[in-house]
Amino acid sequence: MKDKLNLGVLVSGGGSNLQAIIDNIEAGRLDARIRIVISNNADAFSLQRCRNHKVAAIVVDHRDYASREDFDQRLIDILRSHDVELVIMAGFMRILTEAFLAAFPMRIMNIHPALLPAFPGLHVQKQALDYGVRFSGCTVHFADGGVDTGPIIIQAVVPVFDEDNEELLAARILREEHRIYSRAIQWYAEGRLEVRGRKVALKGCPGGEDRALHNPPLSA
Ligand code: GRF
Repeated sequence: MKDKLNLGVLVSGGGSNLQAIIDNIEAGRLDARIRIVISNNADAFSLQRCRNHKVAAIVVDHRDYASREDFDQRLIDILRSHDVELVIMAGFMRILTEAFLAAFPMRIMNIHPALLPAFPGLHVQKQALDYGVRFSGCTVHFADGGVDTGPIIIQAVVPVFDEDNEELLAARILREEHRIYSRAIQWYAEGRLEVRGRKVALKGCPGGEDRALHNPPLSA
């Protein structure tokens, strides 16, 4: 039996989600190994994290490629040459081409710092605050052809408070990102995720209890 799921992680920036995945692997909570991290940004702090943990990493600067297709083909080649089974987008700020999606069908995960389908795209904490929502959160989903549109695997909900600003809300959401991304990957590794159209079923998931949240609390 094959023991570990081979991951390829795509990053552009700080890489706190990457760090959480590395930590969970090192702690034995995630039956996966990171075969390769690819950054399109040579200055990304993610690369330092890789050096700290002896994780293989490579920079592929999109500006060195004539087209999105050429850039993505290079990514595909690298990921394939490392036998990557699941691609993890962890703060990767590029939009994937159809060819990339076709190379890894339902084998690409993304994390987004909002409760999709609300607030896709960029500056999402600002969007959430401006709208006045009482809850926001984060979403792990399979990537498809749209921006933040693919089948949803797990979401975490956090309250939004009157005194919040973008920074406070982002930090509250990021804490949950670090928890849910590794869970989604572990479920994939265990073969428990079944995609049926837009829906992702988690095999063996207990359900049924009333999990309503209120903010402000009903007792206020
Ligand atoms: C996270 O908020 C993630 O949801 C979004 O980009 C941010 C990346 O943060 N896609 P980090 O690089 O993992 O710290």
